Amino acid sequence: MTYMEAGILEEYQRLGIGNYRGNVASEIIIAVEKYISRLSKMKKTGLGLYFLGPNGTGKTGLMCEVLKGVCDKGYTAIFSTLSGLADKFAEGWKSDKAKKEFVTFVRSIDFLGIDDIGKEYRGKTEFIITVFDRVLRYRSMRCRPTLITSNIGPEKIRLVYGDSIASLLYGKFLPLRLIGEDFRKALQTELQGELFGENNETT
Ligand SMILES: Nc1ncnc2c1ncn2[C@@H]1O[C@H](COP(=O)(O)OP(=O)(O)OP(=O)(O)O)[C@@H](O)[C@H]1O
Ligand SMILES: [Mg+2]
Repeated sequence: MTYMEAGILEEYQRLGIGNYRGNVASEIIIAVEKYISRLSKMKKTGLGLYFLGPNGTGKTGLMCEVLKGVCDKGYTAIFSTLSGLADKFAEGWKSDKAKKEFVTFVRSIDFLGIDDIGKEYRGKTEFIITVFDRVLRYRSMRCRPTLITSNIGPEKIRLVYGDSIASLLYGKFLPLRLIGEDFRKALQTELQGELFGENNETT
């Protein structure tokens, strides 16, 4: 499956794990690389990853590196968000195609990435929580790995999503805490350099 088919966003398609080395704590990079090198084992055990930390520290990027590794090795991957999954679930009431897609994401996709847990809506609805619970419960019982990224830690997850989801997260996820500066600021400087720098094309 191609990165595009997996829904990996363009910004993350062009990067590689090397872009993060040196900027992210080495134990996180080692964990990500080990995970990618042991995908078949991870697929059997159902162990997922939980990237957490402040904005712009590389959570989505590193999750995409894992999903790209999954595609490269011939497994199936999907990059989604919790609100995206909830929308698809709701669409499934009206469309068989959406219903099938939701069921495929949850049941058959080998590695499902859910980005930005906690950012979906201001006030969490019971509906979002139900969809999240359903996805995690099914995948965890069938040993299908799920990867998530979030700005909020497990303690807050319990407050926002309840005990049932917190307990599922404790069971089958390795937490990877990212720390550091918002990398988007550095990227901004780099992009400005590209625009105003010396070696610009003139045609
Ligand atoms: N430590 C890093 N080294 C190199 N590039 C990085 C690093 N952290 C982030 N980036 C780059 O900065 C941009 C933002 O990173 P990313 O989207 O992964 O952050 P995030 O932690 O998911 O932020 P948010 O919480 O806002 O979603 C991306 O282009 C990413 O590749
Ligand atoms: Mg992100």
